[in-house]
Amino acid sequence: MFATAFLDLPPLQGASGTVTLPGSKSISNRVLLLSALCQGTTVVHDLLDSDDTRVMLAALRQLGCGVHADGSTVTITGLGGQHAHHDAIEFFMGNAGTAMRPLTAALSVLGGDFTLKGVPRMHERPIGDLVDALRELGCHIDYLGNTGFPPLRIGQPKLKLDAPIPVRGDVSSQFLTALLMALPLAAQDRSITIEVIGELISKPYIEITLNLLERYGIAVERHGWQRFVIPAGSRYQSPGTIHVEADASSASYFIALGAIAQGDGIRINGVGADSIQGDIRFVEAATQMGAQVTSGPNWLAIRRGAWPLKGITLDCNHIPDAAMTLAVMALYADGPTLLRNIASWRVKETDRIVAMAAECRKLGATVEEGPDWLRIHPLPKGQWQAASIHTYDDHRVAMCFSLAAFNADQIPVRIEDPKCVAKTFPDYFEALFSVAHANTLDIPVICIDGPTASGKGTLASRVAAQLGYHYLDSGALYRVTAHAALQAGLTLEAADETRIADLARQLPVHFEGDQVLLGGVDVTDAIRSEQGGMNASKVSVLPAVREALVQLQHSFRRLPGLLADGRDMGTVIFPNAPLKVFLTANAAQRAERRHKQLISKGFSANIDALRADLEARDARDMSRSVAPLRPAQDALQLDNSSLTIEASVEQVMVWWQSRQVFG
Ligand code: DC
Repeated sequence: MFATAFLDLPPLQGASGTVTLPGSKSISNRVLLLSALCQGTTVVHDLLDSDDTRVMLAALRQLGCGVHADGSTVTITGLGGQHAHHDAIEFFMGNAGTAMRPLTAALSVLGGDFTLKGVPRMHERPIGDLVDALRELGCHIDYLGNTGFPPLRIGQPKLKLDAPIPVRGDVSSQFLTALLMALPLAAQDRSITIEVIGELISKPYIEITLNLLERYGIAVERHGWQRFVIPAGSRYQSPGTIHVEADASSASYFIALGAIAQGDGIRINGVGADSIQGDIRFVEAATQMGAQVTSGPNWLAIRRGAWPLKGITLDCNHIPDAAMTLAVMALYADGPTLLRNIASWRVKETDRIVAMAAECRKLGATVEEGPDWLRIHPLPKGQWQAASIHTYDDHRVAMCFSLAAFNADQIPVRIEDPKCVAKTFPDYFEALFSVAHANTLDIPVICIDGPTASGKGTLASRVAAQLGYHYLDSGALYRVTAHAALQAGLTLEAADETRIADLARQLPVHFEGDQVLLGGVDVTDAIRSEQGGMNASKVSVLPAVREALVQLQHSFRRLPGLLADGRDMGTVIFPNAPLKVFLTANAAQRAERRHKQLISKGFSANIDALRADLEARDARDMSRSVAPLRPAQDALQLDNSSLTIEASVEQVMVWWQSRQVFG
């Protein structure tokens, strides 16, 4: 996951390959609650790991359910209709609507002393229609803040189940879902009828609910979309094992990617056209806009068809979440696209009509909006603008706008707060980068070089972490090469140059966090020793070895960008890097830092000797004939003798930001 303040996407050229998507949010949280309400133990496979499911799992644990997680498989031991505890419980729902609504209903029917709270946005998302319906059937619910909104306090109900229970269907289908999942708890000896008032929106989500209820032993009778009857004697029964389909709304970004990007097409695993999720019908909308889609059991394959895409007019009531993706596809169309019947966007994670319109406009598009519609005009070549996309703590806004990086003007796109995708798809950007490609020269590289012990490694890895970029510690490659050569019985002298170079060319090296693996074996400690540095220094003056490592170093230039630290980075390896920093510090400071470092590791050290050593090494490094230590011509010098590491990072970030196109 990218936990950075922003993520810059370089202009993208195409995409091909296969992605496996995380489990559906809607199915995951329904399955968790149903497993908790039933008798027996349920093994849930392919559960989504996200903010919303974590909120639900935490609540179930608080209620006293058995919850055992093992990767994406979670085993739930249900309450069998009774909650184990009688103490007051306070639940924190974050911004998880798929946990808040159904839990409110289930807890109100179960009864107890429960408080449900969330983040400030949750306290602005309406729940009054659900509370009204629950009060109608005798539940005891109080508003702790504004009437009609969380937080809520729930007490003991006096259930009155004889008359049909009315619920509004035109604000959020989650209210009906919540009732449908809660009422079987009270239907042991009588049938219960729910009546929908007004036009029911988002029917496909109700279909998911009904489908899953059936898997848990509840056969709801549906009379049109107005009347739902839970038969007398209904009792939750665990299905034993259940698989969660991949999220069809998450699939929309990769379906759109296949339709927009040049390449061999995209294959999506985990969800097919026969999915029980309503958002699978996004496939039809994307096809109408020009995508070529084929499907089989649990997979979809998408290729670019019509190009530019075709502008469409669509009633989006059946695909409220996935329809946001159409708004960004519309930027690549041959005419305007009108998305109708999207009033529910206004009460989601943010007001999505306002958000989508504002961010499309930032990119340069003309957008018209109404109470429940949005018209987006295409953005021709020459009119795209560099934009820093605000994401409103809304995962879908972030994912949608990543698709703007395919713009014809080859302009990068900045996504603010990229970690908001964690709500449903924590590794979204990793999945995108695994299939998307950019021109190599468009992938940014920042080079940091400087004398030994100047702190360039620390600086480079900190800046990499702030930008979400990869990190190349080129010194480690020379250290590993020397290590491999010694292991192969070679000397580190010119006599073995060709053979060391052959080894370097096929070095089976992998970096995993701070660990360095050679052929799967952890060599971190071995190469990080003073001796390891000396050995690296010997092989690093052999021109054939340097040449042999060039390709490996280039291979680190991957999306979304790279921090490269070491000799030659800005001169030989990445001469066109847009930012090069030459980091220096006076010898006294460097000796002191090295001294501290050694002492903290439990080695004895003498500052004066260290300083003499550093100065000798500087002289050798600067005067050596192969790859001498010297700043690239266009490098910016940073003397960090009296700077903290944070201040040095800040300086590099300021230089970097000043070279970006985002206003
Ligand atoms: O940065 P370091 O201490 O891990 O580097 C080990 C040795 O390798 C040091 O003598 C410099 C050399 N080196 C090099 O010649 N070229 C690089 N790109 C990186 C390191």
